Amino acid sequence: MAMGWLLPFLLLLLQTPCRLCTGQGSPGPKEGGEEERERPANTWLTSGTHQVQELTLLSMEYAHDLQCWLWPDKCDGDKKAHPAWSWPTGSWDPMQMLSDWYARVTDHAGLLDDRITNNLTGLRWDLGRRLHGQHVAEGLILTYLERFLQHGEPLKPLALSFHGWTGTGKNLAARIIAENLYLDSQRSRCIRVFIPQLHFPHLSHVEAYKVQLENQIREVSSRCPQPLFVFDEADKIPKGLLSSIRLFLSSGKQSQSHSIFLFLSSMGSNAINELALSFWAAGRQRKEITADDLERPLRAAIKENQGDIPLTQQLMEEGLIDGLVPFLPLERAHVKLCARDSFVARGLPYTEKELELVAQELLFVPEEHKLFSAQGCKLVAQRISFMEL
Ligand SMILES: *[C@@H]1O[C@H](CO)[C@@H](O)[C@H](O)[C@H]1NC(C)=O
Repeated sequence: MAMGWLLPFLLLLLQTPCRLCTGQGSPGPKEGGEEERERPANTWLTSGTHQVQELTLLSMEYAHDLQCWLWPDKCDGDKKAHPAWSWPTGSWDPMQMLSDWYARVTDHAGLLDDRITNNLTGLRWDLGRRLHGQHVAEGLILTYLERFLQHGEPLKPLALSFHGWTGTGKNLAARIIAENLYLDSQRSRCIRVFIPQLHFPHLSHVEAYKVQLENQIREVSSRCPQPLFVFDEADKIPKGLLSSIRLFLSSGKQSQSHSIFLFLSSMGSNAINELALSFWAAGRQRKEITADDLERPLRAAIKENQGDIPLTQQLMEEGLIDGLVPFLPLERAHVKLCARDSFVARGLPYTEKELELVAQELLFVPEEHKLFSAQGCKLVAQRISFMEL
């Protein structure tokens, strides 16, 4: 429904055939996925100078990034591997441009609804139903968020650091949080997702990124009383951005104490995996693993990072991160639950046999036990797309 007005606008803005338009809003080809991506870039980038093409590409990537957040089901698979582009020099600022554009769209659409839902019941329900095999993360997320949201005047923003292997549900958990804390119409106003490879790709531009990041955070904070900032692949955030992020996380004048920051990374995931394996080897139930069991090894593993200290570790040492949230490696049964969810989301029938087939396509480690999915649930949706062909 919302796509109805958004897409023409996007089209107008980009002045170019819109790669994102296939399969959305209207009953086009499903997902617009594989075949779409394989088409050479120049069939949809029609004309113009190199610079214009770059701008177009960049805008589309941002738009896509945003779209993945707003309509995640239209956006399966790993689209993060963006082609490298050089950061164009010049006076325009793509991030600012996109956020201005987006603000204009939402204003036009009359979506200036101030309500933030903070639906903790929905959060509890969704985490339990959609996040598989993560009882520790689920409990911690609920505890931290309940405490924070029910506190009338928090002293500082809430900052949580999600740790775990790829595909274990860190992104999904962040999305579930977003969906239950904000109305659809609020998500675009209140949420910013930063992906270092996309938003901060070149170390040499770190000074420019600092300005952009601070502007972005200020801008979202100015129009949303409870902003949510998600940093994906947080271990790859350039360290030069530390001072900018610190500015907003500490309980100073600059900070917006109602903001929520989520840092997602795979830092320390080996320690989590080893602990899960040791429980299994000792014949203990996965469900018995507690947050306390994981806390110490995880902290130690993160601290072990010698020499090149990631930015999030620095924040941790400064006491600016309120909690670590570990995500356990996923077992076969969990992957099958993800497969089931994907079938259901696509409205496809499935049987136990098909779920098993999807699981069989994935790599399980360690070699001798084949216990944990090396990619978690990450490739599940893609596998199902292939099965459909
Ligand atoms: C909260 O979420 C639950 C479960 O999704 C839903 O039934 C309920 O209507 C929501 N409440 C509000 C106030 O949105």
